[in-house]
Amino acid sequence: MATVVWIDPGCCRHEKKCFQCSLKFQHQVFSDFLSEAVLRYSDSHLQLLPLQKDTTNTVFYSKNKIKRGEIMKTRIFLLFAFLAISAISGGCSKKTETNTAMLDSTMLKPFKPLPEMVEADSNPITEEKIKLGRMLYFETRLSKSHKFSCNSCHSLTNYGVDNQPVSTGHKEQTGDRNSPTVYNAAGHIAQFWDGRASDVEAQAKGPILNPVEMAMPDEATVVKTLKSIPGYEEIFKKAFPDEKEPITFDNIAAAIGAFERKLVTPSRWDKFLNGDETALTDMEKKGAVKFINTGCVTCHAGAYLGGQMFQKIGLVKPWHAQNDSGRYALTKKQGDAFVFKVASLRNVEKTAPYFHDGSVDSLSQAVDMMGEYQLNKKLNAEDTEEIVAFLKTLTGELPKEYIAEPELPKDGPNTPKPVLN
Ligand code: HEC
Ligand code: HEC
Repeated sequence: MATVVWIDPGCCRHEKKCFQCSLKFQHQVFSDFLSEAVLRYSDSHLQLLPLQKDTTNTVFYSKNKIKRGEIMKTRIFLLFAFLAISAISGGCSKKTETNTAMLDSTMLKPFKPLPEMVEADSNPITEEKIKLGRMLYFETRLSKSHKFSCNSCHSLTNYGVDNQPVSTGHKEQTGDRNSPTVYNAAGHIAQFWDGRASDVEAQAKGPILNPVEMAMPDEATVVKTLKSIPGYEEIFKKAFPDEKEPITFDNIAAAIGAFERKLVTPSRWDKFLNGDETALTDMEKKGAVKFINTGCVTCHAGAYLGGQMFQKIGLVKPWHAQNDSGRYALTKKQGDAFVFKVASLRNVEKTAPYFHDGSVDSLSQAVDMMGEYQLNKKLNAEDTEEIVAFLKTLTGELPKEYIAEPELPKDGPNTPKPVLN
């Protein structure tokens, strides 16, 4: 640990300049938000740890390990969060009264409206690619049994989920994790609960070959199958006009990725962020204030209210199930035990059951548990009700035309038959 700086839960009394003056703000943010936790950076993510005797009032920075950009980003965010908090709590008083009038632009700084699409230089979006990607999204012949497509577990007319604790794939096998929604997922820092795929293109390759999902034996079989279906050749050529042999495993993933990059669901919350004061009711505004005030915004911010960092589930109290170690299984680093991607809260009203293990059916219960496990705060019934009301404003409109199921080309004479075992 390179530098130790003080955090003062007493709020405001502490005017010492720490290793950068802006840290002054952090003290106050954390004394308001999280008087019982400290902030610590580990290699790649920031962690909030319960206060222990020897670390009381202390924030550790391991300067050598942190990328500067990340510190800066976090600082800027914390600064905004502080401004927001001071706006509602009147500077340094401990008052937490909810005043919806205060939900002004300063307080809303940690949030952003959704983009129209999530662009990437690595995979430019074209109409032709989207058209192909949409077909492949619904293509059951990308599965061994010809029974499963992406849409089986991520139903586009059902907010991109199957509403099952864990999904069922090939031969009725079940996986270990809940299927997250594909809507707005392209904008996250990484894909999967543990972030093991860097983007939606890399992600799309996973389920096709996963033995408990679509169960294709290898990439070559996937490519051979699509080549055997008359019609696909031409559609791939249009989507990838510069390529001689456009039907490749990479291009399948690129087309599906391009389609997913426009699965975006703006909601009343975006209208509100864009200046329409009437888009939210008073109750919903109160909920937004509570969401910020309680500290949910520390992790659930940005356009997706999540999806931008990895955090430990069960920060202040061990998570109720300990069988899935999250990112630890990937990195084998102790600090990554039970660390998962912070879930986006877009459409959360519709995507039950909740958490990586699908262990919780009710949104109110999920909210209460976040208070308990992440923030060491017991929310009362009114707090929960208002926060839930706010979360429901994140339910967007599904892009009906964009997700309309396309007609798929028929089998050719050499198209492999479904294999059920
Ligand atoms: C049998 C069910 C099943 C099928 C079929 C399936 N998925 Fe998934 N999907 C899941 C589960 C479960 C996860 C979470 C797994 C994890 O995090 O370890 C997931 C994760 C994802 C994610 C990550 C979202 C996020 O927020 O991190 C995306 C995107 C996605 N799937 C897209 C697809 C696409 C595209 C296809 C088709 C090529 C597909 N899925 C097929 C069950 C399925
Ligand atoms: C310290 C970071 C942190 C804080 C603070 C936090 N969360 Fe979370 N939240 C997470 C992580 C990480 C997940 C995903 C955990 C998992 O399932 O493994 C999550 C998941 C959720 C989910 C489930 C979403 C889904 O699709 O399964 C909801 C709802 C939620 N949070 C709401 C809240 C609310 C409301 C608050 C404030 C009371 C809050 N969170 C505070 C990190 C945090």
